[in-house]
Amino acid sequence: MVEPAVILPSDPLLPRRVDPHFAWELAALRAVGGEHALLDHDALLAGDVEAAVRRVPTGGGPLWYRGWMIPTARYGRLAEALAARGRPLLTGPVAYATAHELPGWYRTFAPLTPASIWLPGTGWDRRALAAAAAELGGSGPAVVKDYVKSRKHEWAEACYVPELADLDALERVASRFAELQGEFLAGGLVLRRFEPFVRAADGRTEEARVWWLDGEPVLVGPHPDSPAHRVSPDLSAVRPLVRALGCRFVTTDLARRADTASATCSDPGPGAGPEGGAARWRVVEVGDGQVSELPSGVDVEALFRALLKA
Ligand SMILES: Nc1ncnc2c1ncn2[C@@H]1O[C@H](COP(=O)(O)OP(=O)(O)OP(=O)(O)O)[C@@H](O)[C@H]1O
Ligand SMILES: [Mg+2]
Repeated sequence: MVEPAVILPSDPLLPRRVDPHFAWELAALRAVGGEHALLDHDALLAGDVEAAVRRVPTGGGPLWYRGWMIPTARYGRLAEALAARGRPLLTGPVAYATAHELPGWYRTFAPLTPASIWLPGTGWDRRALAAAAAELGGSGPAVVKDYVKSRKHEWAEACYVPELADLDALERVASRFAELQGEFLAGGLVLRRFEPFVRAADGRTEEARVWWLDGEPVLVGPHPDSPAHRVSPDLSAVRPLVRALGCRFVTTDLARRADTASATCSDPGPGAGPEGGAARWRVVEVGDGQVSELPSGVDVEALFRALLKA
């Protein structure tokens, strides 16, 4: 079997070189003996898929992608163009969309993730928002995002809804979110019940990002927003859901419920102890492993070693 190679974005200014943001990933890939190819990400986004893959040598075996997020429709075009060059992507377009967009993974992860509902496109109105809020229980705090990203840095203005019953506030936050996302809004609007997660002193949620390959955790680290956090999540409840999703290379962002007493009393789960067991760990979001940001300081060589063997 031909060992897979990894396709990475090229530097927009120096197209024969890797994008500086991914240079440390390429260094790790090389350190474990991996081959790479370069993708012109800007050409792909501009719709010129042939130009995007021009530098990819033909017929060298399958590819993993590591790079910037790609809208699902463009990913499909990329997959076709690479397959035509004899370089199929190991994550096909269906698997990519399943892990990358919330509606793709939500049902599988529903037992472990905040209750969510989505309104496709941008054509929703106040009545649609009211119906969505009602389906989420009609009251209590919530979070808005699109199928892929939130505006967490504009938390009060475009992310957090303190009270779902306050329809004016919901409409204000959702509209501001859509306005700020503009043409980059992915898929549609997602409304999620807010859950109290454990936060660090800086106010950020303490999240672990777990990298899964063929149903096995190959790298466990902090979320890239807080690379200094050291978290060791209980994966016993997450693993079967990752396997059920059926995508080869995914990430799960995990956080602990702050209200452990109620969370663990109703369902202690195996191994629930003073540090909390499976019942405490919640899935904040799922992602495609090819486009999830890697936190600095993790053992990225181990990740590439696993990808080259897969
Ligand atoms: N349902 C929720 N309950 C509580 N906090 C939430 C919820 N959803 C999101 N958050 C908080 O908002 C942050 C951003 O949410 P999320 O991870 O869904 O968005 P994102 O923009 O895709 O982030 P990322 O940078 O991880 O890609 C989370 O890290 C978490 O702190
Ligand atoms: Mg996140």
